[in-house]
Formats: sequence, C-alpha cells, structure tokens
Amino acid sequence: MIILSIETSCDDTGLTILEAKGKSSFKVLADELASQAKMHSEYGGVYPNLAKNEHTKNLPILLEKALKKSKVKKIDLITVTHGPGLEPCLWTGITFAQELAKKWNAKVVPVNHMEGHILSVFGKNRGSFEIPKIKFPVLSLLVSGGHTELVLSKDYLKHKIIGHTLDDAAGEAFDKVARMLGLPYPGGPEISKLAEKARTLRKRGLGRSDGDVQRKFSVENFRAESTQGAGFKFPRPMLHSKDFNFSFSGLKTSVLYFLQKNPDVDKKIIALEFENAVIDTLVYKTKQAVEKNKIKTLIIGGGVAANRHLNKELKKTFKKEIKILFPTKELARDNAVMIGIAGFLQYKAGKTKNPKIIKARGNLTL
Ligand code: KG4
Ligand code: ZN
Repeated sequence: MIILSIETSCDDTGLTILEAKGKSSFKVLADELASQAKMHSEYGGVYPNLAKNEHTKNLPILLEKALKKSKVKKIDLITVTHGPGLEPCLWTGITFAQELAKKWNAKVVPVNHMEGHILSVFGKNRGSFEIPKIKFPVLSLLVSGGHTELVLSKDYLKHKIIGHTLDDAAGEAFDKVARMLGLPYPGGPEISKLAEKARTLRKRGLGRSDGDVQRKFSVENFRAESTQGAGFKFPRPMLHSKDFNFSFSGLKTSVLYFLQKNPDVDKKIIALEFENAVIDTLVYKTKQAVEKNKIKTLIIGGGVAANRHLNKELKKTFKKEIKILFPTKELARDNAVMIGIAGFLQYKAGKTKNPKIIKARGNLTL
C-alpha cells in the first residue's frame, strides 16, 4: 500500500510517501520538508497567514519532487494532519489532500498531530522501519513549540492527556527567552548550545560543579540549591502542584526581570539556568507520572525532544527501570513521516473518512 502523508499544522510543510508492507513495516520512498523557520525568524515567531501562503506554495513543489523520487504513479491512502495547529495552515493540507484523493480515488485518514508525535519514535526519514511491540502502559512527554503534554496510552491508538501546560509550551518558553537574549528563532537549539557551553565550563571548574548530577527529586532540594552556584536560580514552576500540569509563563517572566536587573550577566549562564529550570520541571513531573501510573515505556516527542540535556537527565533518572524511546533528530521536529505512521494505524483500525467532511480543528485534543 502506498501512503502519501501531509503535515502543515505550523511552520513546516512536510510531505512523505511511504510504502506499508503487512501490518507494521514501512519503507520511506520519499520524505520532503520545507521549513519556514528562517522566514519566521525575522519576525520572532510564526505568523499564521504568512505560514499558510508558504504551505500553499510548497505543497505542489514537494509533491512533484516526492513523486519523482519515489517513482510511484498512484497513491492508495492519504493521511493528513487535521489538528491541533494553526487553522489557516491546517486547511492548506486538508484541501490539498481532498484534491489528490479525487484524482487518485484514494482513501483519506485525518490525523491528530500529537498522536503523530507519539508514534514518531518508531519512524525514520529514510530507509525502512518497523513498529515494534512495546510494553504498555506508555507515558508520552510531548514537548514542542505549541504543546507540553503528558499522555497516558493503553495502546498505540488509545490515549488520555493527564497533564498539560496552563500557559506557555516548553518550546515556546525556549523561543521567548531566546528572543530576550537576542538569539534567533527557533530559540531552543540556540539556548541549548549556549547552556551546553556553560555546563562544560562549569565542569572544568569555572563556577560550581554541576549540582544537577546528584540532585534528588524534592521541592526542598530545589529550594536549598537556589542560593548556591552561579548566585541565582530560576524557579521550577508547579513542582508542588498535585497534578501533572505545567506552567512556563512565570519562569519566562523571572528571566525577563532578572535580565532587566542584571544586564551584564553572561548569556551562557542565563541559558544554562533557564534550561536547567525547564528540564528539571519536565523530568520531575514525568517521574511522578511514571510512578503513579506504573509506566513500562516512556516516549518523548516534539521539537524539544531533541534537547540533549533532557535526554541525559531522563536517562539518568530512570536508568534501566523503564524503556525510553526518543525520536531521531529529523522526526523530533514536525514532519510527515509520523503522520504516515499514525494515519496507517488509524486506517487499519477502520478510521477512513469521507475527505469532503474533514475539517481543520485548531484545538483538537487526543
Ligand atoms: O515540534 P516542533 O518542530 O513544532 C511544533 O509543533 O511546535 O517544535 C518546535 C519547538 C521550538 O519551540 C523549538 O525552539 C524547540 O522545539 N526546540 C528545542 C530544541 N530543538 C527544537 N528546544 C530545546 N532544545 C532543543 N534542542
Ligand atoms: Zn509538532
């Protein structure tokens, strides 16, 4: 079965052609991605109408390239993101899918972008891959520019959100703090690079040795440490809330006030302290959710999944107790391969839809 997948929920246009064999094997025949990050970087964020125009321009170009590369003549199944995301952008993918479905008489499955991020850990953007048998229950920490969610899954397609951000998403906080520091968009990788430099300097003895290493997970420990080291520390928001929710807006404001009062502090140190605060919070809540729900497998998805410090801290926290699955760097960010995987599994579960009734759903939840 030949699957064409389309992803246009935010600022990346993704288009992939996969060949599915049997129930769970895939071959990537073509994987195209047009990133608008450079364009949006000039504005410091994503402008929906600008992004929409880019998707409209990119989609036919990417399709032509993908058809040429894959040498396929006919598509059997089209999977397309219908939410959550920016509605004008989602519509471009949906209308494109509707036109192509007519042309090839293909079946269509609408895909939840967040389910895509969960299943992204099984994929690759080239070669072949297989969906493995994993142990449930699964907890997914989905961290991107638009979302920060903890999702409990009883099966590959059975999900429940058990925690979410009350304001800014983790990636969004990275982007906003990067902007305060005069770094380009997207800010996550930039902050992360600076933080890594500061960490290396500290390890060499310039500044305190990295106290994160032996840190125990308690609010008291975080408070006790706040007076040590670089002389300042940003808050770890919501650690004492008895739920699995997050909030990053206050942390962002703390950084802003700190910068206003201390304009001369090294950017690297601010990046380090900010990254530590975000990652500590994510790891702390994830650990609580893992313990409470007797989790067997932990999945990390979304753009922030590419963060090296997050990866390291999670591995250190859980050791070999549970299996942790990360996406490849290419599939951590938005992409169409994950929309292909999710769409194919949904198709197998009988979730084909009449393309005419598919609508963009900006606030779609799992
Ligand atoms: O999943 P994604 O590509 O798009 C959304 O659906 O939002 O995620 C993009 C987000 C951006 O906020 C970006 O700054 C962040 O992921 N990001 C990172 C890193 N790489 C990307 N954040 C922290 N560390 C990184 N290495
Ligand atoms: Zn995403």
